Amino acid sequence: MKFTKAAVSGALALAVAIFAGQGACRKKTFDYDARSTIVLGQYASLTGGTADFGKSSNDGLQLALEQINASGGLLGKQVSVTTEDDQSNSDNAVAAVSKLINRDKVSAVIGEVASTRSLSGGGICQSSRIPMLSPASTNPQVTKTGDYIFRICFTDDFQGKICARFAKDQGWKRVAMLTDTANAYSKGLATAFKENFPVDMIVADENFKAEDKNFEAQLNKIKATNPDAIYLPAYYTEVGLIVTQARRAGMTMPFFGGDGWDSPQTQSNPDTVGCFYSDHYSANDPSEATQKFVKAFAKKYGHQPDAMAVLGYDAMGVMAQAIKDAGSADPKAIRDALAKIKNYDGASGQITIDENRNATKSIVILNVTGKPVPDLAKRYDPGE
Ligand code: PHE
Repeated sequence: MKFTKAAVSGALALAVAIFAGQGACRKKTFDYDARSTIVLGQYASLTGGTADFGKSSNDGLQLALEQINASGGLLGKQVSVTTEDDQSNSDNAVAAVSKLINRDKVSAVIGEVASTRSLSGGGICQSSRIPMLSPASTNPQVTKTGDYIFRICFTDDFQGKICARFAKDQGWKRVAMLTDTANAYSKGLATAFKENFPVDMIVADENFKAEDKNFEAQLNKIKATNPDAIYLPAYYTEVGLIVTQARRAGMTMPFFGGDGWDSPQTQSNPDTVGCFYSDHYSANDPSEATQKFVKAFAKKYGHQPDAMAVLGYDAMGVMAQAIKDAGSADPKAIRDALAKIKNYDGASGQITIDENRNATKSIVILNVTGKPVPDLAKRYDPGE
């Protein structure tokens, strides 16, 4: 029989754990409720390639935390959130989550925005049995990691389907696609789009890899097919480069994409004016919970919140609700309470956690206009 290196070290770790458990005469596991504060963890891309994501969701989270502590905290205690910067890197995400769990003994983890990093960090949370709540990771696989992994946003199965629906509603008959194959999020969205759009109307299907800088070859191939629009399910970091290179090559058709476009860099790029992307919320949404949040956020930070900000805010709010419902800071009790969250009145809409630990939410299509806040073009509700 052959053993892989991973299997041998896994078996060894298990043997050591059993031995240690016996040696300590069933030493009591860590008592999360004996602490004078409630300690939570967050991992986020505060620096590195996609720093806009982490900084923004952290801003939202900190605003919620401030409000929670100002109104007396939770279970009669103040709440602290220890934040680890993963520098937009998946390996660092694993290290960050390990530190939060083993060094800081956090009761629960909030993070990440990017699906690829939530997949990495989520594995550690699941094997350590510490609940993780992702504010913004939409790739379907994220919550499939296990029963301790939750999210407060919709998934890319829905987002891709709605993008296909929007393309049909626009009357686009020739759609080209350009996918980032180094990004789980991009690949997932591309798959969902293809499942919901007539195959004979997809005139080109090109790929690139995150951090590529030159897209001339793919754009030339796409240009030759004369598409009505180009579906680009990518992050803002590449979106700007690609759209600008396309405009320079004389391509004037609209690009459209998903929530990964959301960044001040997209709004301030004149080449993206006239493009569309699907997103979690519009700052122009008149609902009371949204407008209350938008005002408080603008007062604290001096600008309008984007989707990551609103989701960071709601993730902290939902986590606080779960701790209140659980009446405990114990990870298992918080997990069980998260699974039962229903009709939470979030700034990003009503949040109900379903049996797959996902949230079912409405989606908006935003239109880039060159103003700091994009226009709300359309809204689609779940089930559409
Ligand atoms: N949904 C993206 C992902 O899963 C992250 C993201 C969320 C980006 C919200 C922008 C806004 O990778």
